[in-house]
Amino acid sequence: MGGIITITVNTVRIKPVAMAMISAGFFLSSCQQAGEDAATAPETPSPEAPPEAPSPAQRSPAPEDVAAARAAAVALRDALFAALTDAMTEGGIERAVAVCNEAAPEIAAGLSASRDMEIGRTALRVRNPDNAPDAWERAQLDAFAVRHETGEAFAGMEHAEVVTQDGAAVFRWMKPIPMGGLCAACHGENIEPATLAAIRALYPEDEATGFAPGALRGAFTVKKALGTPSSL
Ligand code: HEC
Repeated sequence: MGGIITITVNTVRIKPVAMAMISAGFFLSSCQQAGEDAATAPETPSPEAPPEAPSPAQRSPAPEDVAAARAAAVALRDALFAALTDAMTEGGIERAVAVCNEAAPEIAAGLSASRDMEIGRTALRVRNPDNAPDAWERAQLDAFAVRHETGEAFAGMEHAEVVTQDGAAVFRWMKPIPMGGLCAACHGENIEPATLAAIRALYPEDEATGFAPGALRGAFTVKKALGTPSSL
């Protein structure tokens, strides 16, 4: 089990700004308490197999880290949304592609520095290869897709875990980003040729088109070194 905790939240508090996000298909629930630590009880060893030494990363994510990760994702989402809508209003979709190209990595880097955690976006099919998932992120994205297929809404979904990396404990957190109406212009199934040309010029290896409304477009991802030996 390795200290895995999956937190599923069903309640959402809807604010005016969140309503705008919902209508734009860009909703991320922001203010829930951490779930109970239900998944951390050690498994009963079977009689044949001697009990293994406890995994060094058997610790639960701290509620304050989960809260900080949620807040960082909301900040990233809001900043990206503002940059995108400003650019679309001023210069149309092609301008917004260029703004996204410049602003998205900068915004994520700025927030990461100010919040002392790495915050970004990833996906199984990426536009920017710098956003490609690592093995842990890929596994979570797959798990989100399975949870969605079995009837769970993306809105309340997230996953937090403390993993061991190079002998040290690292807090990791992810939350799905579903496809909304606004996203279709650049990630959907029928992208305007001029928009597609602008995208392909900047991202020759783009894989992030052809998403249906409501599909799993990607996820916010947060990583924070806990600065203590993982076995504590
Ligand atoms: C104007 C075009 C445009 C629109 C509209 C748009 N995106 Fe993107 N999206 C981009 C570009 C460009 C990138 C690559 C940014 C970078 O270089 O990091 C990107 C990257 C992403 C990524 C990061 C993973 C990857 O593929 O590199 C996610 C997740 C994402 N977009 C989700 C969305 C969602 C959800 C919406 C709708 C709310 C949306 N996008 C709307 C252009 C757009």
